[in-house]
Amino acid sequence: MFISNQAKFITFEGIDGCGKSSQIKRLLRRLNDVPIQTILVREPGGTHISEKIREILLDKRIHDMSGRTEALLMTASRAQLTQEMIQPNLKKGSWVLADRYADSTLAYQGGGRNLDLDWLIQLNHFATNGLQPDLTFVVDVLPEEASRRKTGENDRIEAEGIVFQNEVRRKYTELIKLFPDRIVLVDGHLSKEAIHEHIWNELLRRELLYEEK
Ligand code: TYD
Repeated sequence: MFISNQAKFITFEGIDGCGKSSQIKRLLRRLNDVPIQTILVREPGGTHISEKIREILLDKRIHDMSGRTEALLMTASRAQLTQEMIQPNLKKGSWVLADRYADSTLAYQGGGRNLDLDWLIQLNHFATNGLQPDLTFVVDVLPEEASRRKTGENDRIEAEGIVFQNEVRRKYTELIKLFPDRIVLVDGHLSKEAIHEHIWNELLRRELLYEEK
């Protein structure tokens, strides 16, 4: 049996199509089986207000959104999600897994849109009331590989193309160096099983959960 002393907040990051979403679902299942009460949220979105903001953010008919507007809408969506879902669940003892969180704003609006990182860090701080993940996994794949894997239509941000995704990926690499204690790099080119084991072993290694014999 696995147990944890305290509810944990774990975020997953990476460029579009990196494979993080299937990894999160897998981890969610395993934690709930263990059993550790765990919920999943995704960004932008996850609350009534945040889903409305998401519609604007991903609308392909919009061609003239400024980078600053994009950053403010992303963080507005995050503010609501943090207050309405993440904080209350952690408080009642549930683990929270997030499909994207504050680092996405740093990587996409900082890297892709070239906005100042320090401002974005401040903006995130304001939006989340300072709530930081206990641990963040960046699932790293080459943009070419990610785009090969993708099915379905591109949304407004995915439609930016390979050069944009390369900038986002470069910024994630920078973030790993800036926050080495919190962010773990995962090689997204490995098999799904290998990636999952890497993630699970990292939770054990950091004693976020441990086995009771
Ligand atoms: P989504 O369909 O949820 O993408 P994914 O499955 O790759 O997570 O769309 C979210 C898009 O918004 C994605 O392209 C990343 C982008 N994004 C930002 O640019 N900044 C942010 O702060 C967040 C949370 C997402």
